[in-house]
Amino acid sequence: MSGSSTLLPALVVTHRLTTLRQALAERGLDGMLVTKAVNVRWLSGFTGSNGQLAVTADGFVLVTDGRYRQQAADELSAAGCSASVEVTATAVGAVLTAVFATGTSVGFEAADMSVTAHHRLEADLAGRRLVATESLIETLRQIKDEAEMERLRRASAIADASFQAVQPLLHQRPTERRLAAEVDHQMRLRGAEDVSFSTIVGSGPNSALPHARPTDRVIEPGDLVVIDFGAKIDGYGSDMTRTVVAGSEPTADQQRLYEAVLEAQQAGVAAVAAGVSERLIDTTCRDVLARHDLGEAFVHGTGHGIGLEIHEQPILSGRSVGILRSGLVVTVEPGAYLPGFGGVRVEDSVIVTEQGCLPITKSPKGLVPEFDRAPG
Ligand code: GLY
Ligand code: MN
Ligand code: MN
Repeated sequence: MSGSSTLLPALVVTHRLTTLRQALAERGLDGMLVTKAVNVRWLSGFTGSNGQLAVTADGFVLVTDGRYRQQAADELSAAGCSASVEVTATAVGAVLTAVFATGTSVGFEAADMSVTAHHRLEADLAGRRLVATESLIETLRQIKDEAEMERLRRASAIADASFQAVQPLLHQRPTERRLAAEVDHQMRLRGAEDVSFSTIVGSGPNSALPHARPTDRVIEPGDLVVIDFGAKIDGYGSDMTRTVVAGSEPTADQQRLYEAVLEAQQAGVAAVAAGVSERLIDTTCRDVLARHDLGEAFVHGTGHGIGLEIHEQPILSGRSVGILRSGLVVTVEPGAYLPGFGGVRVEDSVIVTEQGCLPITKSPKGLVPEFDRAPG
């Protein structure tokens, strides 16, 4: 039962260094120390737990420790990365001093460096100016190439198949934890290397908690159940939410709430296209829910990019200022949450194109799960 039996296209990172060097030059930086693991991975292909990249106009060095000597060589070679590898646990400072020997200003990733590490870097690079950068590589990571999209498509397909597989369990009064465990298990059976994030299952009144942690509450027939989950393939994680009613026909109130959220979600997806403002997607969803008197019940942003992290740029919210571009992969996930009654969220991940968008999460939507609608 493998969802990813055909080989994944190789992820080639070669051109990313050029893009980063251009970004550094535009900021007047002579170099940059990259410490955030997913950014190291994006630039070099290296997936070890200890690695930093020192980048200058003509230098590119991965510093790691002895555990990763072989892995680093293999992964950099597979990704077409030209960095040289320095293996040391004790002389990291000396390596950085050598790489950044020329030039005066060195960027670092402000959101990823402890004060202690910063003090150490100041000592190692005495005489150089350390410049805090924010979201520099995260911005470069926004647009996905074809190999990245393929990973996200496969992860989404695994999540779709797993959602279908768990639906019979909704008739067996599982606890939220049991259902979440089954979702995770089904994704792994289908080839997921991991989950994208801790699976969310909120049932009955718990469905009104947008990021409910699964509990030992038994899911009863007639409960609203929000399931938000994703599979990870080669580092790239999918993201989808479906809301269903367990083992019973929905009530009129549940149906009304669901239809309002679904209308908002479909309007949001229909609005996605290259050239459209990110904020418009948020406004579109919010306006639909406001028309249904549910404006106050939509208590979070509308979407976000996905990729090596589950929440990436761009963020689609009322504070967004960017314009959607072709090649972004974003979620559209409005919800409405009524304390004591329950909540509904519907979320898809879509690839932004010039003409509109291509959803990569494809599970049928509807309060009655597909399993309960099947003939016979
Ligand atoms: N599960 C997190 C999200 O949908 O954003
Ligand atoms: Mn989600
Ligand atoms: Mn999401």
